[in-house]
Amino acid sequence: MPKSVIEVRNCWFKYRGGLKWVLKEVSLDIEEGSFNLVVGSTGSGKTTLLRLFNGLIPWFYRGEFRGSVRVNGVDTRSASIAELSKYVGMVSQEPENQLLTFSVESEVAFGLENVGLRPSEILSKVNSVLKELGLDKLRYKVPHELSRGEMLKVAIASVLALDPNIIVLDEPTSTLEPLTAVDLMNLLNYLKRECGKTVVISEHRVEYALPFVDNVIVLSDGRALVYRDVRSLVSEGVLSSIDVDEPTLITLFKALKNAGYCSKIPLSVAEAIELLRGILGC
Ligand SMILES: Nc1ncnc2c1ncn2[C@@H]1O[C@H](COP(=O)(O)OP(=O)(O)OP(=O)(O)O)[C@@H](O)[C@H]1O
Ligand SMILES: [Mg+2]
Repeated sequence: MPKSVIEVRNCWFKYRGGLKWVLKEVSLDIEEGSFNLVVGSTGSGKTTLLRLFNGLIPWFYRGEFRGSVRVNGVDTRSASIAELSKYVGMVSQEPENQLLTFSVESEVAFGLENVGLRPSEILSKVNSVLKELGLDKLRYKVPHELSRGEMLKVAIASVLALDPNIIVLDEPTSTLEPLTAVDLMNLLNYLKRECGKTVVISEHRVEYALPFVDNVIVLSDGRALVYRDVRSLVSEGVLSSIDVDEPTLITLFKALKNAGYCSKIPLSVAEAIELLRGILGC
């Protein structure tokens, strides 16, 4: 049995002053080393769900919280946000708000200074994270003057510096150019495959993530359903039923499948090319 690094049990959450339960009876497990995608229409509670994973709920966002969340076996009610940040690195929907210093280097060092590491350890950690993410050349740049994609990478680097085993990103591709979005997904997949990280992202535009994800968490009316068979999820039209735009590639191949030209729906462009070769006999 794969180990669960996040265990959500019968969680309910209503923001202080809010009238409705944003999350209702949510129970799910995030497995170690898996790539997870959270989807749902605007206001369905994606960001709220992610806030459970690093203790922002119940510690920062007040309201009525029922149920329990364990991260690496630790109940988020019994640990501080600072302690949980060693396990979960969170990149918010507006990464620029997360960038606090005047150089990429000091940005990545910031969290390490706060946990009291020695300067030599900080330097070696900063060097290795910048190298790993290909950010060496931006080392002395001002984070707020970078492109969106670069800013996002710096925000990822600064949470990775603390070496969390889980990394959570809220709608990371929402303002990225298509090629930068593809780049980002490749990076997250690298972090999963080569560094053993567990990745959780929420997204509206799912086409970039679909080739890589192991599980999809669908939020609808405050409830969460986990799909471990991503191909069935897209084939059965679950995305359109929750108001998430179906990637064009999938719509096209559904039509081809209905017309009897193929039996499978591709999750990536590479798979689509393979299927088209079969259809065209080349
Ligand atoms: N800090 C807050 N205080 C009060 N209500 C909030 C707060 N944050 C979110 N909400 C409410 O909770 C509900 C779910 O919001 P949430 O941001 O989690 O949805 P979302 O799926 O992330 O939406 P989007 O796709 O627009 O990012 C909404 O009705 C929202 O207005
Ligand atoms: Mg959101």
